[in-house]
Amino acid sequence: MIIGIMKQRQSIMEQKKLEIVIEDNPIDNVQKTVGLALLGLGTVGGGTYRVLTGQLDEIQKRLGCRIEIRHILVRNLKKASLRVQDSRILTNRWEDVIEDDGVDIVVELMGGMEPAYTYIREAMERGKHVVTANKDLLAEHGPTLLELALNKGVDFMFEAAVAGGIPIIMPLEKSLAGNHLTEIMGIVNGTTNFILTKMSEEGMDYREALIQATELGYAEADPTADVDGLDAGRKVAILASLAFHCPVYFHDVHVEGMSMISAKDIRYASQMGRTIKLVGVARDTDTGVEAYVCPMLLPKSHPLSSVNDSFNAVFVHGDAVGDAMFFGRGAGDLPTASAVTGDILSIAENILHGSSGRIGQLLYKKRPMKRMEDTYNRYFLRLHVEDRCGVLAELTEIFARYEVSVAQIIQREHQKDDLAEVVVITSLVREGDFQTAIEELSYRTSVKKISRMIRVYE
Ligand code: NAP
Ligand code: HSE
Repeated sequence: MIIGIMKQRQSIMEQKKLEIVIEDNPIDNVQKTVGLALLGLGTVGGGTYRVLTGQLDEIQKRLGCRIEIRHILVRNLKKASLRVQDSRILTNRWEDVIEDDGVDIVVELMGGMEPAYTYIREAMERGKHVVTANKDLLAEHGPTLLELALNKGVDFMFEAAVAGGIPIIMPLEKSLAGNHLTEIMGIVNGTTNFILTKMSEEGMDYREALIQATELGYAEADPTADVDGLDAGRKVAILASLAFHCPVYFHDVHVEGMSMISAKDIRYASQMGRTIKLVGVARDTDTGVEAYVCPMLLPKSHPLSSVNDSFNAVFVHGDAVGDAMFFGRGAGDLPTASAVTGDILSIAENILHGSSGRIGQLLYKKRPMKRMEDTYNRYFLRLHVEDRCGVLAELTEIFARYEVSVAQIIQREHQKDDLAEVVVITSLVREGDFQTAIEELSYRTSVKKISRMIRVYE
């Protein structure tokens, strides 16, 4: 009897499932069209075009409206015509985009400051919604653009601007909104993570790894923005602003690049149980916000140590959630296009439901920025000293004066000269005190060269 009832229920459920499948073709009857203009058809623009056109049918069914790419703005029409199905949508005239009332969403994927900044403002002024992947622009003008979007009642989304395909902006704005966030840190540049992985695991030369990262579409138009830490610095400014609800600009972030990291540093770090990664850190402390990007030694057991190639990962610490980690592809055409497409669909949904422009006051606090010398870290120090009795005592005596204690040490004799290489990892120390200790060390005749100083994350 019971089995009979269960079978009957199962058969009703199967019928219901079948009904849903049969109804699954709503797009033929819909009237509403959401019009898009893509600005740029390079790595990210090309990826977004491929994702949108490849998934168009599914996307339209899910939204219940038509999505139309009305224009793609480029400089070189001939080059772009090889990448699209219908080259009539290509233009090199901004007027074609801004004066078209059928364009609801402008998707800025050109990069750089100008004309991107002007185009985005003009689009918002005309009541058009905006998606961008442009972290350079956001780290400089993000607060102004958020305010303009709020005033004009338009949506402004930029999920792709930080950590490529990883959803991190939406979680910070919405899913984690119930938290007081105190720390956000991670690997937010795919190019440098790719280079460091290739150097560490395959012994590849720095230059060769950079060429590969560029060929794979990870690097910026000017890759010094990646290797000098500028790109990661811009992302840290965006993350810190959203996490701590106060404007943090690129110029507030202390930035150091990774191009000086050598195979030798990586080998010593490994012997000391650590990897080297280019890391971005932002903390909201009692005395202000600290934000920096620099190469750091991480314990091999730390989850970020195994984030390799172009993968990125972001750690967030909140009072309610505790630790949360977001992981995925941080660069490249399709991962970034995935984030851009998600933003386009969210905005299209808002348009359809008449709920656009719900930005709210995201940056409502004012917080002082801390100076780098007031931050606390451990340090990896590699130096060449005279190979004689008493030199190590000299080193530790200077360290002790500034309350720097040695947690780990390696010493290697040189074969050819009377020098020894000493590699030290210190305990936690105020940066300003450590810098003074290093300056004092550099005046000692026994210290021949200070080759490297890298912060250590613990
Ligand atoms: P890209 O490959 O250099 O492509 C740029 C595109 O924009 C090209 O189609 C270019 O057209 C067009 N363009 C540039 N300036 C223009 C102008 N003044 N007028 C009209 N068109 C213009 O750059 P991308 O790597 O796709 O990066 C685009 C944006 O996404 C940047 O903000 C970047 O930081 C960001 N982003 C990139 C990645 C990534 O993995 N690559 C990931 C996340 C975010 P022409 O070719 O005709 O000059
Ligand atoms: N050049 C950037 C990177 C692209 O390598 O991470 C993604 O923002």
